[in-house]
Amino acid sequence: MKKLQIAIDGPAGSGKSTVARLVAQALGYLYVDTGAMYRAVTLAALRRGVSLGDEEALAQLAAAVRIELKSMPDGGQAVFLDGEEVTQAIRSPEINGAVSQVAKVYGVRQVLTRRQQELGASGGVVMDGRDIGTVVLPQAEVKVFLTASLEERTRRRLKELRERGFALSESELREEVLRRDQEDTGRALAPLKPAPDAVVLDTSHLSPEEVTARIVALVRERAGSPS
Ligand code: CDP
Repeated sequence: MKKLQIAIDGPAGSGKSTVARLVAQALGYLYVDTGAMYRAVTLAALRRGVSLGDEEALAQLAAAVRIELKSMPDGGQAVFLDGEEVTQAIRSPEINGAVSQVAKVYGVRQVLTRRQQELGASGGVVMDGRDIGTVVLPQAEVKVFLTASLEERTRRRLKELRERGFALSESELREEVLRRDQEDTGRALAPLKPAPDAVVLDTSHLSPEEVTARIVALVRERAGSPS
């Protein structure tokens, strides 16, 4: 069967990463978490004291750091920044609060978009993010845009952060998720939005397995049909 490019976009807590990982596992494809790359650049900026308002310094930093994504046996992805594992460190509330500011910088997006395109070039890839179907892989054969209600997305994110030991209130987190949605949707460059040819799926009442099954069915349909 032909190896396709699969683009999965959507806001925070829509289930992208979980589902993208499961789809990649089901098909034996490579999984690429592009948000992890923006998070790694943000971590490097915070550690080095680079001002989040200094676009030139952020772009230089994005070009200078070495970010590696390594597939794990459980289908997840370990993230390395200049050789150091930062898989957990990039998921902290601090990074959540700063990442959208880094992600709106032209020079940062230019560097990371190019790397993502290289990773996806030969197909057989599931990539998740905000602009995969619109900018990174506009030619992807399968594009899915996942949504879910703000309440549900907050609930999922809260569970995830609490499991990792962060104490946050639900209202704090709701504000954070909403603010990041607004920043990602409202920015001039590569804003969060469904590609015109994306299949939009509301996951509020679907399990990750149900969403995965729908996407895998779409892939089989597209891979089997001569385009
Ligand atoms: O997991 P969650 O949906 O919370 O976020 P993520 O996918 O790890 O992405 C973190 C942030 O990186 C997003 O809020 C965006 O600001 C940015 N991002 C982006 O601009 N473009 C992408 N392709 C992926 C992430």
